[in-house]
Amino acid sequence: MSTGRVTTADFRRMKQEGRPITMLTAYDYPMACLVDEAGIDAVLVGDSLGNVVLGYDNTIPVTMDDMVHHVRAVARGAQRAMVIGDLPFLSYHLSREETLRNAGRLLQEGGAQAVKLEGGRDVAETVRAVVAAGIPVMGHIGLTPQSVYQLGGYRVQGRDAMVARCLLEDARALSQAGIFALVLECVPTPLARMITEEIEVPTIGIGAGPYCDGQVLVTHDMLGYTVGGFMPKFVKKYADVAVEIRRAVEAFRDEVRERKFPTEEHGYTMPEEEVEKLKQR
Ligand code: KIV
Repeated sequence: MSTGRVTTADFRRMKQEGRPITMLTAYDYPMACLVDEAGIDAVLVGDSLGNVVLGYDNTIPVTMDDMVHHVRAVARGAQRAMVIGDLPFLSYHLSREETLRNAGRLLQEGGAQAVKLEGGRDVAETVRAVVAAGIPVMGHIGLTPQSVYQLGGYRVQGRDAMVARCLLEDARALSQAGIFALVLECVPTPLARMITEEIEVPTIGIGAGPYCDGQVLVTHDMLGYTVGGFMPKFVKKYADVAVEIRRAVEAFRDEVRERKFPTEEHGYTMPEEEVEKLKQR
């Protein structure tokens, strides 16, 4: 029986039929509702949570408890979209038991339908174990932010043929290990195209060009809901929410200072006789 929610089978079908898959991030209930209402296929509660809304420099400090907390809020809002929760730094490396417990928490406590984890051949066995436990896994290769210190910064991965071949091997290994989709972050367009044509599961690109089976962006980036910081070339800004927030906040500040807000229309009345009684007392 169909629940009306987007499933991993829908992802597969969309790739086969050449229909692009849409995915956006969300970290809270209202954004999940809005993204879901717009008909986006999957909502990713990324560990980008760390830098996007928690104010960290990168994703490394994000914990399992942070992820569960935010996945729960998003799962309450997303009725149709598949909810995917990111496994944060070191939550799937220490032991198989701990990996399964953490992946399970995102579904059982968080209400997600799938998890995402970063890495290539090095995590293929981990993917197998999580999939064997009945938990759908989305892979993530290319620029993997949890390895930022190892990669030496946020830069395009696979520009030279040797690294590109490694990424192609990673994609094959992950596909064989049972992932249902693969995020390709910040890789050259020809490589993303080759991977997309080669593997059976859909690729979801971010900074990976137009030939992937789907596209994802960090919602705060595409809405312009950010403060300062570097904006990668691959982000297209569809709105400028920060400008609108600044305008509204400054207008509130000025109106309160000038006693223009609130006016009578924003207040509550009281029967005159009650006012009189109050005065007598
Ligand atoms: O954490 C995240 O938001 C991500 C996307 C950028 C794919 O991994």
